[in-house]
Amino acid sequence: MKNSDKLAIRTQNLQKKYRDFWGRDKVQALQNLSIEVRSGEIFGLLGPNGSGKTTTIKILLGLVFPTSGQVHVLGQSPRSVQAKARIGYLPEESYLYRFLNAEETLDFYGRLFRIPRRERRRRAAELIDMVGLAHARKQPLREFSKGMSRRIGLAQALINDPELILLDEPTSGMDPVGTREVKDLILRLRDQNKTVLLCSHLLADVEEVCNEIAILKTGILEVSGPVDELLAVRDEIEIRLRRTENQTNESVRQAIESTGHEVLEIKHPRVSLEELFVSIVEKNTSEKSEPISSENPESKS
Ligand SMILES: Nc1ncnc2c1ncn2[C@@H]1O[C@H](COP(=O)(O)OP(=O)(O)OP(=O)(O)O)[C@@H](O)[C@H]1O
Ligand SMILES: [Mg+2]
Repeated sequence: MKNSDKLAIRTQNLQKKYRDFWGRDKVQALQNLSIEVRSGEIFGLLGPNGSGKTTTIKILLGLVFPTSGQVHVLGQSPRSVQAKARIGYLPEESYLYRFLNAEETLDFYGRLFRIPRRERRRRAAELIDMVGLAHARKQPLREFSKGMSRRIGLAQALINDPELILLDEPTSGMDPVGTREVKDLILRLRDQNKTVLLCSHLLADVEEVCNEIAILKTGILEVSGPVDELLAVRDEIEIRLRRTENQTNESVRQAIESTGHEVLEIKHPRVSLEELFVSIVEKNTSEKSEPISSENPESKS
């Protein structure tokens, strides 16, 4: 069996009703949720506030029990201690010890997983570098900014070299450079054949890193499937041409229309705002910065 044929997560008809103090039904957080996440996949779980994303993650971790339905994580029940040891989790809000520094924090979590001392040290150093906190390895967490806290939370989620990583809004509070780094980290995890389940409200980020998504609305699965299939506009075709000196949008239009095709739009491609931002911020500060030109060659259709 190929790795990708194995299911890292499988839920069937999952229901979750939160009850109030007197045991009365308060909120139906999930209704008949059935999802499958294959091993090695980057899966995006999307939905508006209160749609049941965090509840789903907590059920997968065995922190919350479903009212009914089946859950398998890495082929086992979420209550299984063996399964938990192979999972990494970044909660929506990390509750880390404010008086420990970055190294001590990772060492503490490494001990919980009974990682031997030398290995713990090696992994902690590697992860601190990986999440871009090398400059703050000795700084107590109470002095961390929001983005730094998110980064150490992410390192903590990876301390046990997990096969399955559950990330609840990993980039919340991060600047665009940090967000780019987290996305690159997720892509690196994919290259290592890890499975990632990612909840995020940042749709462009999800679109970039996830191969499969599911969209929840009030606890109900509205849509799921491969990103490429869900987003493809099947009845139109996009062509990109190299720009030549004498060519104009009009000459391109005429050339294509002469073949009997209807042209809907001709325009210059754009870089994303993220690409622009990251290139400016990461530009070597010693370089003399040149002002960004806003010259926009022929943008009309
Ligand atoms: N411990 C709880 N007790 C009662 N109701 C809860 C509890 N936790 C969550 N809920 C309710 O369950 C529903 C789903 O909440 P959940 O936190 O799973 O949503 P979410 O999709 O993660 O939202 P967000 O995008 O805001 O993080 C909400 O209506 C929420 O109020
Ligand atoms: Mg949530």
